[in-house]
Amino acid sequence: MDARDSHDVKALERELEELLAGHRRLTAEIAKVFRGHESTVEQLLLCLYAGGHVLLEGVPGLGKTTLVRALAAALALGFRRIQFTPDLMPGDILGLRLLEEDAAGKKHFTFQRGPVFANVVLADEINRASPRTQSALLEAMAEARVTLFGESQALDDPFFLVATENPIEMEGTYPLPEAQLDRFLYKVVLGLPTLEETVAVLAATAERPPAVESVVQPALSRDQVRRLRELTRRTPTSSDMVELAARVVLATQPAGDAPEDVKRYVRHGSSPRGGQALLWTAKARALVRGRLHVGVEDLEAACAPALRHRLILGYEGEAAGVSVDALARAAFEHAKARVSWR
Ligand SMILES: Nc1ncnc2c1ncn2[C@@H]1O[C@H](COP(=O)(O)OP(=O)(O)OP(=O)(O)O)[C@@H](O)[C@H]1O
Ligand SMILES: [Mg+2]
Repeated sequence: MDARDSHDVKALERELEELLAGHRRLTAEIAKVFRGHESTVEQLLLCLYAGGHVLLEGVPGLGKTTLVRALAAALALGFRRIQFTPDLMPGDILGLRLLEEDAAGKKHFTFQRGPVFANVVLADEINRASPRTQSALLEAMAEARVTLFGESQALDDPFFLVATENPIEMEGTYPLPEAQLDRFLYKVVLGLPTLEETVAVLAATAERPPAVESVVQPALSRDQVRRLRELTRRTPTSSDMVELAARVVLATQPAGDAPEDVKRYVRHGSSPRGGQALLWTAKARALVRGRLHVGVEDLEAACAPALRHRLILGYEGEAAGVSVDALARAAFEHAKARVSWR
């Protein structure tokens, strides 16, 4: 290493330290209004840094809206919430082309940007909209742009989408097709709070919930978020880790090198996209822990949230109420035992 390299390394270390302090501030700002659920908040942030989107599952009243609002406020980024309903049309999300007349009486089309043009978008109860509207959003999310009548506009950068889903509601909903579920990096499950957490929520909101935007202070700038994304992408992964992620993917497929339970209960396993979700978020996890290399524990932590929505149970699995999280863990153990560690 020559003098310049070592200078660069020092500069990078300093920068990383600053970004990690920002990450800790971000976590603390969110915790001011969204109590408990530390690992849920971390999973959300890992997806933000890994450049993906999140499907957030939880019954009503668990604080999903509060959490995403707090995140947007702590990033000082543009936030829009879209309530999905059966009559919501693609244009209500993407935008419209309007015919306008200028002062001289000349008519021309203008593109009126819809609510998807924001940095943080909360797609509330995504399974209540028609498949046509769902797919319009998911297409925009996959391509990071909207094309209407031949005119194309890039979405804001960063663009981070959190879609919520209520697990107990079946009537009048359109479950997301498997192909669309696959587009979410993580499916984060917001569980019921513990007694301590419930007490904390009730005590803090005894009078009335605080206005999120007046309590939460900006913690990371737009450029810092972009930089965290870049450093996440550039975090190196050893060939062992790549092999492990690939073996985990195969261990979720009933026709692959998979554990007994997967063969018995799973109808469709993960695609390579699930493997990307594992590696990308494992990198983000290593980075926020101040490591510049991915460890086995990073991949292990990513398995349930990255794979649970990509494991489609067969009839027997559904009937037996098999846990997809347990299958994801089994796939990980199976894969780990087979990596030819170098
Ligand atoms: N973990 C929590 N931390 C802080 N407040 C919470 C938490 N859980 C629930 N609350 C409070 O409960 C109320 C409901 O929260 P919120 O509207 O965010 O829930 P939601 O999950 O979005 O519900 P819905 O599915 O009906 O939209 C709010 O007043 C919020 O302050
Ligand atoms: Mg809500």
